[in-house]
Amino acid sequence: MSFHTRNTIYFYLHGKRIALRDVSPSLTVLNYLRDELHRTGTKEGCAEGDCGACTVVVADLNQQGCIQYRAINACIHFVPLLDGKILFTVESLKTNHGLHPIQQAMLDCHASQCGFCTPGFVMSLFGLYKTADKPTHEQLCHALSGNLCRCTGYRPIIDAGQRMYDYAQALAPEQQSALTHPYSAQETPSAWLSQLHELAAHTESLVIHHQQQAFLAPRSISELSHYLLAYPNAYLLAGGTDIGLWVTKRQQHLNTIIYLGQVAELDQISQTDEYLEIAAAVNLERAYQALVQHFPELQDLHWRFASLPIRNAGTLVGNIANGSPIGDSMPALIVLGARVLLRRGNTQRELALEDFYLAYQQKDLQPSEFVQAVRIPLRTSTQILRVWKISKRFEQDISAVCAAFCMEYQEGKIHTIRIAFGGMAATPKRATHTEQALLQQNWSLATLEKAQAALAQDFKPLSDMRASADYRLHVAQQLLHKFYLQTSGSSFVSELGDLHD
Ligand SMILES: Cc1cc2nc3c(=O)[nH]c(=O)nc-3n(C[C@H](O)[C@H](O)[C@H](O)COP(=O)(O)OP(=O)(O)OC[C@H]3O[C@@H](n4cnc5c(N)ncnc54)[C@H](O)[C@@H]3O)c2cc1C
Ligand code: FES
Ligand code: FES
Repeated sequence: MSFHTRNTIYFYLHGKRIALRDVSPSLTVLNYLRDELHRTGTKEGCAEGDCGACTVVVADLNQQGCIQYRAINACIHFVPLLDGKILFTVESLKTNHGLHPIQQAMLDCHASQCGFCTPGFVMSLFGLYKTADKPTHEQLCHALSGNLCRCTGYRPIIDAGQRMYDYAQALAPEQQSALTHPYSAQETPSAWLSQLHELAAHTESLVIHHQQQAFLAPRSISELSHYLLAYPNAYLLAGGTDIGLWVTKRQQHLNTIIYLGQVAELDQISQTDEYLEIAAAVNLERAYQALVQHFPELQDLHWRFASLPIRNAGTLVGNIANGSPIGDSMPALIVLGARVLLRRGNTQRELALEDFYLAYQQKDLQPSEFVQAVRIPLRTSTQILRVWKISKRFEQDISAVCAAFCMEYQEGKIHTIRIAFGGMAATPKRATHTEQALLQQNWSLATLEKAQAALAQDFKPLSDMRASADYRLHVAQQLLHKFYLQTSGSSFVSELGDLHD
C-alpha cells in the first residue's frame, strides 16, 4: 500500500509560513519557541500542563470551515502537531498602535505583579476573546482554569478579562484588525483564513524521520491501521496530554510515533437511534459538550476535568485508552453502559468499557489494535444519574475518588442499578456487591446501610499521597449516602416526575 507523503511541517507564525524539516518529533512547542526561535515570552513553569505559564493559542479550520481558536499548553505539545495550523504566542499580540486590548486591560486592572504568569494569562484570555462574545463570570473562570498566579490574586485578572471587551469597542478604525477584533458570529474573511486554506491544500500525510525517531500522521483510518500493523511497537499519539509528560518528566525516548489527529474520520461525533458515538480524535472539550447535552448531570465533571487548555488538546478516547485507575471519564461512561469500538487492520470488535480493563495498566487491546470510538447508549427517560469527583482543588486536579451511580426505579423498588468508581482499585471498576445489595430493594435507610457495608467487599483501596485507604472507602460510602439523600424521599419523587414530563 502506498500513500502520498511529505516530510515537511507547515504552519504559520506571525504572518510567516514556517517549513520545518529534520526536527525531533518529540520536540515541544515550548522548547522550539524558546530555544530555537528565541521567542521567550512563553514561559516554562512546570513542564507538565499544570501551571499555564506556557499557554499559546492555535487556530485551525473546524468542520464548517470556520476558524477555531484553542488555548493549549506548549510545554507538552509536540511541534509536528502544529502542522496545518496558525500558532499565536504572546509576541503575536503586538500591534502597531500600542497594546492589544487584552494587554491594556491587564495593565489598567493591575493584573500582574512579578509577571511570570502574565503571558500565559494573556494567551488564555486571547483564546476566550476570539471564541466568546460576552462571557459570563463562570466562562471567564473556566477559560483561566489552567493558569496559576502566585502573587497577583485572581480578581484583577478576571476584571481584566471583563474589561478587554470594552477596550475592543473603543478601538479606532485604524486599530481594528483580525488580531484586535473580538469574537463575532460572522467573522470577516481575514488573512488567517487564507493562510489556513493554503495549509489545508497539503493533503499528503506528514512522515518525518529524524535520527532514530519517526513520526507518521496518517490521513485516513485505513492508513492509520496500516501503519499500526507495520509498526506494532509505535506509540499511538492522540492529544499528548499523557504522552507529553512521558517526555518532559520521565525523559522517555519515543522512537516511532503514530499521530491520529489528522484523520478527519476520527474527529467525528455522531448519533444513531441507540447511541452517541465519539471518535478517537475528538478533543475532551467537544466530547464533554456533547455528553452534557445528553446527560446534563455531567456538567460538573466537565468543568472539573483538568483545565480548558488540557481539554482543548486531550481526547476522551485517550482518557479511556490510557486507562488510569484515577481517570475521570470512565466511572460515568461505565454506568451509562458505554462500549468501545476497537479496530485492528480491517477487523473491528466491540467491547463493554468495563471489560476493556483487565488489571492495572492492562487492557484488552491487541498489538496494532486501537480504540476507534466510544459508544454511549442514549439516555432512557427513567435513568437517574449522579457523578461526583472528589479532589483537593475544584479544577486541574486528579481525583482521590470519582463515583458514578445510574439507577432506574420501578413500583417502589430499585429496578436497575450500576455503580462504578475510580480511585478505589487498580482499574476503574463496578461495585458489583453493592449493586446486588440494592437491586430490587426499597430505597430505604436499611438498604443503604447494607449497601455501604457491601462497598467494603467491592474495594480494598490503596493509600497514596492523594488519600489514605480509609479515607477513600469512607468517602465512597458517604457518596453512596449522598446519592440516597438526593434520590430517595420527596426530592426523588419530584425528579422522577420531571423526567416523565
Ligand atoms: C495538567 C493535567 C491535568 C489532567 N487532569 C485530568 C483530570 O482531571 N482527569 C483525568 O481523567 N485526566 C486528567 N489528565 C490526563 C489526560 O489529560 C487525559 O488522560 C486525556 O484524556 C488523555 O488524552 P490524550 O488524547 O491527551 O492522550 P495521549 O496522551 O495522546 O495518549 C494517552 C495514552 O492513550 C493511548 N491512546 C490514545 N488514543 C488511543 C486510541 N485511540 N487507541 C488506543 N490507544 C490510544 C496512547 O497510546 C497513550 O498510551 C490530566 C493531564 C494533565 C497533563
Ligand atoms: S509550563 Fe506549566 S503548563 Fe506548561
Ligand atoms: S504575577 Fe507573579 S505569578 Fe502571577
